[in-house]
Amino acid sequence: MSNTSSLDVITSLCKRRGFIFHSSEIYGGINGFWDYGPTGCEMKRNIKEDWWKTTVRNREDVAGLDATIIMHPSIWRASGHLDTFSDPMSTCKACKKLMRADQIWDILADGEIGQSLQAELDAGTDAGKIAGWCKGKAKGLAPNLAAVQNPLVLTAAFEKIKADPASCGSLQALYKLLANANKEVEDEVVTPCPYCGGELTDPRPFNLMFKTVVGPVDDPANVAYLRPETAQAIFAQFPNVLSTSRQTVPFGIAQMGKSFRNEVTPRNYTFRSREFEQMELEFFIRPDEAVELICGRVTTMADNPDLSTPQNAWGWEVWHKYWVERRKQWIQSCGLPKDSFVEYWQKPEELAHYARACVDIQYSFPFGVQELEGIAARSDFDLTQHQKHSGKSMEVFDEPLKLAANALGEAGKAAFMEKVTAEWAARGKDAEAARAFVAKLFDGKYVPHVIEPSAGVDRMMLALLCNAYEEQKLTDEKGKEDVRVVMHFSPRIAPVKVAVFPLVKNKPELYGKAREMFEHLRRRYAAFWDESGAIGRRYRRQDEIGTPWCVTVDFQTLEDGTVTVRDRDTMLQERLTLEQLKAKIDDALLV
Ligand code: GAP
Repeated sequence: MSNTSSLDVITSLCKRRGFIFHSSEIYGGINGFWDYGPTGCEMKRNIKEDWWKTTVRNREDVAGLDATIIMHPSIWRASGHLDTFSDPMSTCKACKKLMRADQIWDILADGEIGQSLQAELDAGTDAGKIAGWCKGKAKGLAPNLAAVQNPLVLTAAFEKIKADPASCGSLQALYKLLANANKEVEDEVVTPCPYCGGELTDPRPFNLMFKTVVGPVDDPANVAYLRPETAQAIFAQFPNVLSTSRQTVPFGIAQMGKSFRNEVTPRNYTFRSREFEQMELEFFIRPDEAVELICGRVTTMADNPDLSTPQNAWGWEVWHKYWVERRKQWIQSCGLPKDSFVEYWQKPEELAHYARACVDIQYSFPFGVQELEGIAARSDFDLTQHQKHSGKSMEVFDEPLKLAANALGEAGKAAFMEKVTAEWAARGKDAEAARAFVAKLFDGKYVPHVIEPSAGVDRMMLALLCNAYEEQKLTDEKGKEDVRVVMHFSPRIAPVKVAVFPLVKNKPELYGKAREMFEHLRRRYAAFWDESGAIGRRYRRQDEIGTPWCVTVDFQTLEDGTVTVRDRDTMLQERLTLEQLKAKIDDALLV
């Protein structure tokens, strides 16, 4: 399998084989929106169903939810999205393009200007050559760059590069110099546009939520938002799910579906889209203080716990690590090798103020190591926010907690209160709030804390596409060389599980038998019928969409009922009865 596949190769295969198309392509497309074609939508569905089965159906402690995309706007006020869900954005004063201020140098490096200027740098930082670039190629590529427009800036740049080639030895340093060589004062230095060289505005926050209007009157009072994540509906529906699902903490609520973000610069194919799908789990746990009251102790990672089966005494840290491990297992089970992704633990300064820990699972995409999904320990922040803004209680009553508190007696309670107040004070938290919290615990009540594994369907699919791609050089028995493109999807994720071919079309008995077998198989699996072209060509078409098994119905089938089953990865063939074939496929598809 290849991890060297370039994004262009993947994009081209996806278009050719019906995985992914640009949305609204016949009208020139729309940036940041993608459609999944016949093979792509099957594969995407498989990823989602696999996640649902693993996360919800196969567990007794997780319930599902399917909420609306548009919700009451107060949800986004409570969650903080209205105030803080923004990216820094700059605008070019010359070409008017908008871009994320933190991606300017990546955009430069990926674009034509960057590649052309990098080629000059790779040949050595020669002042004369750089000046030649400004007078020549740059006129078309970066017409608004100061050194292209203004001979004085160009002369100043020339002198600076001549005097100290090392000072502008990187693409970013050189490009900045070509925009600012004549500036003496730091305050006057500008950032040049990566698309044309013009001057960029200072970054300003740009809220990523898509706005819409609910009802016929286009009035600010009717503004609503397309959800930027599926998670918030889970928090908002927490009391309803709790009272109808017969779950008790610890338990989770899972939801998957569309999310929308008006990304300033959608890029890297489907990786950063404006419309995408998420698969999110909010797993609610007891606060550590409640665990301590019930169990007498709290297990932390320092205890080196066995993470295979959840335990009552687990604190948030162990639950968080448990979900990191579960998510890694799932990713691997979908076909991404263990060494293709890493755990990135966010540093304390990178964490949201309420988060206790956050791990990004990062995959090595062709465009760099980037986030596939995240697992965050979010404390009780979300439920508390909704409790505050809605006025509705998000507390649970935990009977074992109440019994444990009663068993403490008055002296025990006082000692516990003192201990927790001191611990909170050490973390810079208010003593009064600590006392109110502990008093609630003694009544068996608290707002649950949450661990949030949050995955993107589209990113997972992109990673699986990149990982599965392989070009194999083959030599046939006559010595002729050929290249086979094969997608090594895991059978569970493959869009088509089995393809059925009649050896010939013009023998009614054989053709009829093949149809009969196909109809039988398609009732159980995503199956594909192909009767045209040589068998070898039919195999190749299936290899490109990653079909694990191709079945040829031939003359021997009419005699003994067996078919030729060709394995996608090994290309080996074996004869099996229909029952043997079904057993083989079932075995591979079992979650
Ligand atoms: N509720 C938490 C949350 O939404 P996030 O890190 O913003 O966290 C979670 O998003 C996951 O959703 C990401 O790891 C990624 O897989 C996916 N995702 C986020 N923004 C995306 C985008 N613009 N395009 C595609 N997938 C995206």
